Amino acid sequence: MALHRLSSITIGVPNVEDTCRYYAEFGLTRNGASLSTSDGGEQLRITESPARRLIELCIGADDPDDLARVSDRLSRLGVAIERDPTAVSALEIHSGARVVVKVLPRITQEPAAMEPANRPGCPQRRNGRAPAILRQDHVRPRKLGHVVIGTPDAEASQRFFGDGIGFKISDRIRGLAAFMRCSTDHHNLLLQPSPVAFLHHTSWQVDDVDEVGRGAMTMLEGHPERHVWGLGRHFIGSNFFWYLRDPAGNFSEYYSDMDSITDDQLWTPGMWEPSLRALYAWGPDVPPSMLEPDDLADLMATSHQG
Ligand SMILES: [Fe+2]
Repeated sequence: MALHRLSSITIGVPNVEDTCRYYAEFGLTRNGASLSTSDGGEQLRITESPARRLIELCIGADDPDDLARVSDRLSRLGVAIERDPTAVSALEIHSGARVVVKVLPRITQEPAAMEPANRPGCPQRRNGRAPAILRQDHVRPRKLGHVVIGTPDAEASQRFFGDGIGFKISDRIRGLAAFMRCSTDHHNLLLQPSPVAFLHHTSWQVDDVDEVGRGAMTMLEGHPERHVWGLGRHFIGSNFFWYLRDPAGNFSEYYSDMDSITDDQLWTPGMWEPSLRALYAWGPDVPPSMLEPDDLADLMATSHQG
C-alpha cells in the first residue's frame, strides 16, 4: 500500500551518556541507549560517533510490495541496496545516513483531550479554570515527527529520498529546502544544503501549545544554555515550535498542531521564496544558530579527518 511513518532514528554523538540523560529529561522513556515515546515506541537510539550526526533513519511501510517498489526505484537510481523479507536498506551517501524501510504496523494514537476554550463570542469554558494551567505531569512526547539534516548535495539527497524511497514533497523553499513526508504529517524529513553533512534537529510531537511551553520551560530550569528558538509558530507546516540544544549540539524541538495531509489531491505544494517569513508566522527573531550551526568548523574538521 504505502509508506506510512517515520519509525525511528539512530544518532551518533561523542557524549552518549550525557545525551541519553538529556532526552530522558526531554520526556522520552529511557532503556539504556534506547529511548521511547508514548505512542511511537522505541524511536531514538544513541550511539558513539566522533562527530554528531544522523546514522540511521527507519521508515515503516505496509507490506512487502512496498519494499519491492522501493528496491526497484533505488536500483533505477543506481543505489546499492540490501534486502531481506521484511526490510530494504541503502546508504544515502551525501548525508551519510543509512535508510531502512521495514514492514511495520501503522501508529495508532489515543485522541488528546478536547479542552474547552473561551473564544470571543463563543465562550466554551464558563465558571472554571483552564485545565491546561492545572497540568502537573512531566511532558511526554507522543511520537517522533521529523528530522532535519544538512547535506552537501541537497539535490542528490532529495532524489534519493523522493524518487528512490518514495517521500512526497509538501512544500519547498527555493534553493534552500524541501519539506518531505512519508506519512500524513506535513513533513517527516527536511533536507537543507550545507558544506558538511550534519543533524540539524529532531522534532517530537506533544498534545498542544501548552505542552510545547511547559516542556521547554522545564528543560530550561537551571539550563538556560539549552534555549535555541521559541515559542513560535512555523509558517510552513503551521506547527507551534520551541527548539532546544542537546549536549552534543543537536537541536530537539517540541511541536504541536502540524498540518496533516490525508489526501494528496487536496494539498497544493508551495514554492516559497527564501525569507524569514517562510520560516515562521510569528515568534522571536531567528537565531543565527538555526541558519548555520555554531559548531560548523568543528563538524567540517571532523569530517575531513574521517
Ligand atoms: Fe522542525
